[in-house]
Amino acid sequence: MSAAVLRPVSESDAAACADVHAACFDKSWPAADIGALLSHPASLACAAERDGRLVGFVLAWAAGGESEILTLAVDPAVRRGGFGRALMTAAMELARAAGAAEMMLEVDADNTAAVALYAGLGFAQVGRRPGYYAVAGGAARDALVLRRPLLDT
Ligand SMILES: CC(C)(COP(=O)(O)OP(=O)(O)OC[C@H]1O[C@@H](n2cnc3c(N)ncnc32)[C@H](O)[C@@H]1OP(=O)(O)O)[C@@H](O)C(=O)NCCC(=O)NCCS
Repeated sequence: MSAAVLRPVSESDAAACADVHAACFDKSWPAADIGALLSHPASLACAAERDGRLVGFVLAWAAGGESEILTLAVDPAVRRGGFGRALMTAAMELARAAGAAEMMLEVDADNTAAVALYAGLGFAQVGRRPGYYAVAGGAARDALVLRRPLLDT
């Protein structure tokens, strides 16, 4: 088995990103939508690859001194291997290089793994949106709004 690597993402990775996204979220994003996001001039993205296969990616944007995580997904088969933290660290570096002074994101308050990941990376809660995420056949879940300054490290 080869070592994991982080690498840039291009539009040609859209289908592989969509596959990983579909394995991670109830509501999947079509490859065409991911491709359109990747081609946007304000987008930032990074992929994790193992054995030549894309196993995770992060997609963000940076503009006007701010940045926001649009999505972060790691294939369930390779979780707890450090990919999520590495991808987020790369996204913060890309956003900082693009001139962003802070990074924002939204996360399902019940998403224990992601909430712990973001807390460990220094994100702090700055808001809560009750019932933000619709759940088929169940009660809608709250979103936490998290923020992290980027110019302190
Ligand atoms: C959240 C997610 C990206 C984490 O990816 P990962 O590669 O497994 O994360 P890492 O191995 O880098 O873990 C980093 C830290 O996150 C936290 N974490 C990750 N998975 C966790 C879990 N199942 N339970 C509790 N904490 C967890 C831990 O603090 C961990 O640090 P540690 O290993 O030193 O304890 C992954 O679970 C995922 O893709 N989930 C589905 C999609 C999603 O929720 N995306 C985020 C939406 S906002």
